Amino acid sequence: VASIIVKTAQGEYPITIGKGVIKEIGDIVLRAWPGKKAIIVTDSNVAPLYLESCRAFLIEKGIETHAVVIPAGESSKSLATLTTLYDAFYTAGLSRTDGIIALGGGVVGDVAGFAAATYLRGVPLLQVPTTVLAQVDAAIGGKTGIDMPFGKNMVGAFYPPYAVVIDPDLLDTLAPRRLSEGIAEIIKYGCIKDAEFFEAIETGVCDWRGGIRRCVEIKAGIVERDEFDTGERMLLNFGHTIGHALEQVTGFERYTHGEAVAIGMVAALRIGEALGVTAPGTQRRVAQVLQVWSLPVELPPATVDAIIHALGADKKRLGGKIHFVLVKEIGESLLYPMTIEELTGIVARVYRHA
Ligand code: GLY
Repeated sequence: VASIIVKTAQGEYPITIGKGVIKEIGDIVLRAWPGKKAIIVTDSNVAPLYLESCRAFLIEKGIETHAVVIPAGESSKSLATLTTLYDAFYTAGLSRTDGIIALGGGVVGDVAGFAAATYLRGVPLLQVPTTVLAQVDAAIGGKTGIDMPFGKNMVGAFYPPYAVVIDPDLLDTLAPRRLSEGIAEIIKYGCIKDAEFFEAIETGVCDWRGGIRRCVEIKAGIVERDEFDTGERMLLNFGHTIGHALEQVTGFERYTHGEAVAIGMVAALRIGEALGVTAPGTQRRVAQVLQVWSLPVELPPATVDAIIHALGADKKRLGGKIHFVLVKEIGESLLYPMTIEELTGIVARVYRHA
């Protein structure tokens, strides 16, 4: 299977994509780090499905294999989980020539990745994403971190993995809402970078499984050109500014991340159309594709005031001037610098029909 190579400030890593590539994980580990020990970090949802088979593929290649299972869910992205992981690494006798395998969705990848970045000042890391969202986004590009009481992802590090293994077969067990939320991110790639790809997804010429490779190529290119998120990489935040505010004001419970991003993308397109930046009709077209996947597209009117307030209150995290992502037309996006006041002003104008 041909790998996609990502160059980083520290070297490069391969992303191996293909049905059934999980079976090759033993060889991939042997190529990734010199030691013969691996610790699989996974969660309570994924462990019953894939932990034993993954462990068996490693053991058959002579790799000493340990496992830590953390509770599924965002609350595991915490300092408490880090302590659990560091203890487990110490007990297993992990050295800097051995490595950590993050087997799971975004939460596992982020917290195991940050543990790998910091234990012994950095031990090798292999990302094995098991959700669409993690396969097309979170597992690529080296962002790791945890949540703090004062905000999500507030502590972390850029820490590139030694390799990424993407096996679409691992998605067979995904719950429908988890699948849809990943598809929101797939549609996002089409919107920001690739009109042809968007159309292929829109018309069904390309099914979402086939689309994963294209998304990985797009993301790999972006993070190679802007590893540390100071320019082009911010385009990946399309739909995320309002999406994040919506998640926040609804207590991170009502919507999955991808559902909130779907609503946020449509909101950003509506704002873009109001500003005269986005081609008229783009909002409708994107909303239609999202709805095919049962994704919500309407910002609930009752949340508008709270969102405006949350964006204002989030000034510390967002900074004085934010780079709001707008789409000019499908496949072409841009960073549109705005103050928070300008953003909340336009949200109010567009949604309160002032
Ligand atoms: N998930 C956004 C990024 O990797 O930059």
